[in-house]
Amino acid sequence: MTIEDLIAAARDAAARAHAPYSNFRVGCAVLSADGTVATGANMENACYRLGLCAEQSALSAAQHRFGLAQITHVVVAGGAAAGDGIAGHDVVTPCGGCRQAIYEAACLSGRDIAVTCVGAEGDARLDTTIGALLPHGFGPDALTRG
Ligand code: THU
Repeated sequence: MTIEDLIAAARDAAARAHAPYSNFRVGCAVLSADGTVATGANMENACYRLGLCAEQSALSAAQHRFGLAQITHVVVAGGAAAGDGIAGHDVVTPCGGCRQAIYEAACLSGRDIAVTCVGAEGDARLDTTIGALLPHGFGPDALTRG
C-alpha cells in the first residue's frame, strides 16, 4: 500500500460523501500496521449539527476492521463538490474534533500517527503527524493521573 494508493482511496471516499448542505466533500483513508485500509467520508444531516466528519467515519470503520491501536497513517482529502466528484487544489486538514479522535488512537498504540493532507486534485500535500497537529493533547492518561 503506497501513499499514492492511500491518497486515491481518500479521494475516492470523498467522492462518495453525503454532503448536500456544505457541498464540501471530505474523504479519509486509515492504514493499519498490517496494510489493511478503512475509509470513510463526511455524512451530513438536515439537522446540520449532527453531521459526521470523514475522519471520524473512517476511524469508526477502522476500529471495527482492525482496531484503533493498529493505525499507523491517516490520509485526508477533500474539496468542493463538482458533479459526482470533488474539485480544488487546497489541502484539507483535520478539524479540531478529528484531531482529538486521531489522538485517541495514537494514545492507544503509544505511537505517533502520520497524517497526510491533500486536496481534491493536484500535488499539494502536507505530511505531518497527530503529535504536531495536536500538541499537549488531552488523552486517556489524563483521566487517571493523580
Ligand atoms: N469536515 C470533515 O469531514 N472533516 C474535517 O476535518 C473538516 C470538515 C466536513 C464537515 C462538513 O460536512 C464539511 O466538511 C464542511 O465543514
